Amino acid sequence: MHIDPLEKKWGYISIGMAGLFVGIIMIDSFIHGIDAPSNVETINSARLHLTKEFAEDNLGVQVDEKGKITVRIVAARYGFFPKHVTVPAETPVTFRWASMDVLHGVHMPMTNMSTMIVPGYVSEVTTSFPKPAKYPLLCNEYCGLGHDHMWSNITVEAKETWQAPSITKTEETGNE
Ligand code: CUA
Repeated sequence: MHIDPLEKKWGYISIGMAGLFVGIIMIDSFIHGIDAPSNVETINSARLHLTKEFAEDNLGVQVDEKGKITVRIVAARYGFFPKHVTVPAETPVTFRWASMDVLHGVHMPMTNMSTMIVPGYVSEVTTSFPKPAKYPLLCNEYCGLGHDHMWSNITVEAKETWQAPSITKTEETGNE
């Protein structure tokens, strides 16, 4: 079979370009610590408010006895609840997101926080914000007419000045 040399050359160029792009994506995801979302954890989105974890008074920032920081936020048309949270910089923070209705997404520009919030699943992302700032929180999956208005923000405070909420209540202790 005869392939024209010019055609061959273009063939190599296009394969090379595809290889280059895959390489850039791999290096970039390695440098920025981007992981594929793998937290396959199901939840009944229609009954979210009745679950223990995502009940209204359990949302927001919590710190357990070991000092682990967990933030629970519910995405619903058209907002994030609670509307605002404050977390410390340079500290691992685990975000647990759940949707109350349809598919939403969450994206915090300038950080590696970006995940889909699929109804029926809990999306978990652990990240650490390098420096204090006020970060916007945007829905990045089209979820209806109010999608453009679905945003919120997160304040990242210096580790030293951040006020930890009281330790999460546990069943057996009364806490102080
Ligand atoms: Cu929620 Cu778009």
